[in-house]
Amino acid sequence: MFESGIYAKLPDDMPETLALAALDVAGAPAQTAKLVKPGDYVLILGAAGKSGLLCCYEAKKRAGVTGKVIGFARPGKSAERLKATNLCDVVIEGDATQPVEVLNKVLEYTGGRYVDIAINVVNIPNTEMSTILPVRDDGIVYFFSMATSFTKAALGAEGIGKDVNMIIGNGYTKGHAQITLEVLRESKLLREIFETIYV
Ligand SMILES: NC(=O)c1ccc[n+]([C@@H]2O[C@H](COP(=O)([O-])OP(=O)(O)OC[C@H]3O[C@@H](n4cnc5c(N)ncnc54)[C@H](OP(=O)(O)O)[C@@H]3O)[C@@H](O)[C@H]2O)c1
Repeated sequence: MFESGIYAKLPDDMPETLALAALDVAGAPAQTAKLVKPGDYVLILGAAGKSGLLCCYEAKKRAGVTGKVIGFARPGKSAERLKATNLCDVVIEGDATQPVEVLNKVLEYTGGRYVDIAINVVNIPNTEMSTILPVRDDGIVYFFSMATSFTKAALGAEGIGKDVNMIIGNGYTKGHAQITLEVLRESKLLREIFETIYV
């Protein structure tokens, strides 16, 4: 182990398997907690997945009542599961590989306002432009997905003249384990979902 290598003490108040399932994606909700500010409009692509659910919870907590959390999920079981959580202000159903479709659906919901932050937690390639397109100039694009192509994101943003700050989803940010495990303590619902699906 490197001297700077990270570790987290497993908590006493939840099963090890549950804690490990959440810690696997701890960077995403922790970064969300740090990036989202009160009043922000936040788009989350892949919102019904493991990291997506944690990000939705943190985004709503940080954006507050004046902000909006827009969860984007595949139609069917995923979208229905996400809707049932009430974690998002709206759940938009669609295909995250279709940038124009994503943009139009987001703008239809916001009444033409571009989002302040878009978070990509999908598990498939070719979703870079769907993440970049709905973000306002000087907004933030956070790519947590490992399927993200640096080339597609960088050249795609240039191609459409989008001046946004793009962040590579570092798996680590200070306090990532504490922030993520706390979500499972605060939200009984998310804990139940995690125990049912991911443990
Ligand atoms: N940066 C890091 O340090 C780090 C660490 C861990 C993981 N990751 C990455 O983070 C990503 C998410 O991980 P996860 O564990 O949260 O994955 P997950 O639970 O599989 O969630 C991914 C979500 O993306 C959705 N999705 C797939 N195709 C879609 C489409 N065309 N349109 C809309 N939604 C779509 C899936 O929908 P369905 O529910 O319908 O399948 C699923 O809900 C992965 O790429 C993973 O490799 C990164």
